Amino acid sequence: MNEYNISSLEQYFQVYRASVEQPEALWEAIAEEHFEWHKKWDRVLDWDFSTPEVKWFSGAKLNITVNCIDRHLEQRGNKTAILFEPNDPNAPAQHISYKQLSEQVNKMANVMLAQGVKKGDRVCIYMPMIPALAVSVLACARIGAIHSVVFAGFSAAALATRINDSDCSMVITADGGFRGAKEIPLKAIVDEALEHCPSVQKVLVEKRTHTAVSMHPQRDAWLAPLLEQAATHCPPVWMDAEDPLFILYTSGSTGKPKGMVHSTAGYMVYAAYTFKNIFQYEEEDIYWCTADIGWITGHSYIVYGPLANGATTVIFEGVPSYPDYDRFWEIVAKHKITQFYTAPTAIRALAKEGEAHVKKHDISSLKVLGTVGEPINEEAWQWYDTYIGKGECPITDTWWQTETGGIMIAPIPFVTPTNPTFATLPFIGIQPALMDTEGKEVHGNNVQGRLCIKYPWPSMARTIWGDHKRYFDTYFSSFPGHYFSGDGALRDAVGYYRITGRVDDVIIVSGHNLGTAPIEDAINEHPAVAESAIVGYPHDVKGNALFGFIILKEQHDPKDQQALVKTINALIASQVGPIAKLDKMEFVTGLPKTRSGKIMRRILRKIAHGQVDQLGDTSTLLNPEVVDQIIKQVL
Ligand code: WT7
Repeated sequence: MNEYNISSLEQYFQVYRASVEQPEALWEAIAEEHFEWHKKWDRVLDWDFSTPEVKWFSGAKLNITVNCIDRHLEQRGNKTAILFEPNDPNAPAQHISYKQLSEQVNKMANVMLAQGVKKGDRVCIYMPMIPALAVSVLACARIGAIHSVVFAGFSAAALATRINDSDCSMVITADGGFRGAKEIPLKAIVDEALEHCPSVQKVLVEKRTHTAVSMHPQRDAWLAPLLEQAATHCPPVWMDAEDPLFILYTSGSTGKPKGMVHSTAGYMVYAAYTFKNIFQYEEEDIYWCTADIGWITGHSYIVYGPLANGATTVIFEGVPSYPDYDRFWEIVAKHKITQFYTAPTAIRALAKEGEAHVKKHDISSLKVLGTVGEPINEEAWQWYDTYIGKGECPITDTWWQTETGGIMIAPIPFVTPTNPTFATLPFIGIQPALMDTEGKEVHGNNVQGRLCIKYPWPSMARTIWGDHKRYFDTYFSSFPGHYFSGDGALRDAVGYYRITGRVDDVIIVSGHNLGTAPIEDAINEHPAVAESAIVGYPHDVKGNALFGFIILKEQHDPKDQQALVKTINALIASQVGPIAKLDKMEFVTGLPKTRSGKIMRRILRKIAHGQVDQLGDTSTLLNPEVVDQIIKQVL
């Protein structure tokens, strides 16, 4: 049984059954055959969801960069590992071979060592989508430093919160970044953040935009001269299977962002195995995922998964609309992309601009299409299928999360028959469960509930950095013995899963996971604001947009609202990031609250959706009268 390469539905069911009946034997076989270990494990799995504690491949020693780089050098040394497509369509693409990648990563690792970074230290990476970003990530992994990549669209305040939460000692950044017609002053943002980050000793700066930046004499150094002097070999640090590989922050429904901690061996095995199967990757393929490496999609399916399989992975610096809306298809044609993985929000934005942009290019190299980040609506699915896949490329709608590390529920192309808007069947080793509101599992088909997972999988996050109790409370307390995803789902007559969306206060805007709490905190900082509540409402491109209900302090003149809208959004942009700006604001005199004082977002959500006939019983509210007032105002 070649379980590493699922190629028929029958085989899928066979391997899936094995993964449920004898999970340890299956994962052991996969780990054994397809990876390089410095030392093999003593035990495959130890777990207890009541604490929770999960350990995969205990006792093993490895380095993920040996698996992503070194082991390919002999066979694939001259093969392109990273294909870089710059923002400027007239600038040449860059082909970085495995051999060149090895040199760059080893040099970078030596630079970091020389600057005093050691195994276990946290390093924050705040960079544009350029090869140096992937190189920095891999260099951390080479020496066992824990990388914490922060998406370069986050503001200085959001960056500072993340740096401080995990006490990073180093920041790797660039002078600036290009995104479409815009230039983002990354180094200036880092400077602003670091006014509040005492743990940071050193800042390494890559030159990208060649704009003038200020360099702090002790703290900051340009990367180029350091790299020039660095040796091209840096021995890998042997990591324990469960040593943290990285931290990646994700929004919670309350409180500060959660630093999800991913470990080394299990993450590697699962990212690589899912990449191979979900994209039906073959040796000659040119694979492109349009996500940013600042998100989990980029970690698992731009960097680690593809490189562990010796693939060619594309890094695109720009945006889908620059210089025009055909940029994606121009790139597909130019590099003969075989697998294309993007987000529903991008598909909707491009569909809106019309097919003419697609028809300009020969995209017949495509074999497999993927989507991720939010539920894909039927219309977007059909457009993707018709105009991009030409009815011939299977679409894999992949459901997963920052917390899960890898794809959990998705059709395997050419294997699992697809059904628009359905993520279909669980991947090998994944045991989903739907739970009712009483906490009982609902069995059988044609049912719905809260989506949980009842058995550990190798790439699950192990904890929240510095707050294991919060990890337990958030994911393991609602349904004891189960991991709770925060999503709702249904299982149809044939057992296919369809994700219906978040059941908590996380809102997904253009595929970005946004917690309501930090946005409300930003709004509340405005001197005119007394209180606020954010909900999502449907938006035809973004999926969801944000609607803020805001109570102003009494002395504030409500006529001034236009100016207020602007300053509140500017505040959100600086505290959280531009993606979190509100599309609608309504200044209200009160917010519906429970008797214990909790804002009833459910009611505001209905109002924002225009479903005021579905409010349900409001009589138990502390202040039912405000509901009518708000409705009058909004409609
Ligand atoms: C949330 C996780 C995993 C990488 C990108 C997002 C939603 C993700 C799908 C999908 C329906 C999806 C869920 C999930 N989501 N993919 N294919 N269908 N919903 O990672 O930022 O951690 O967000 O994104 O609501 O919980 P993330």
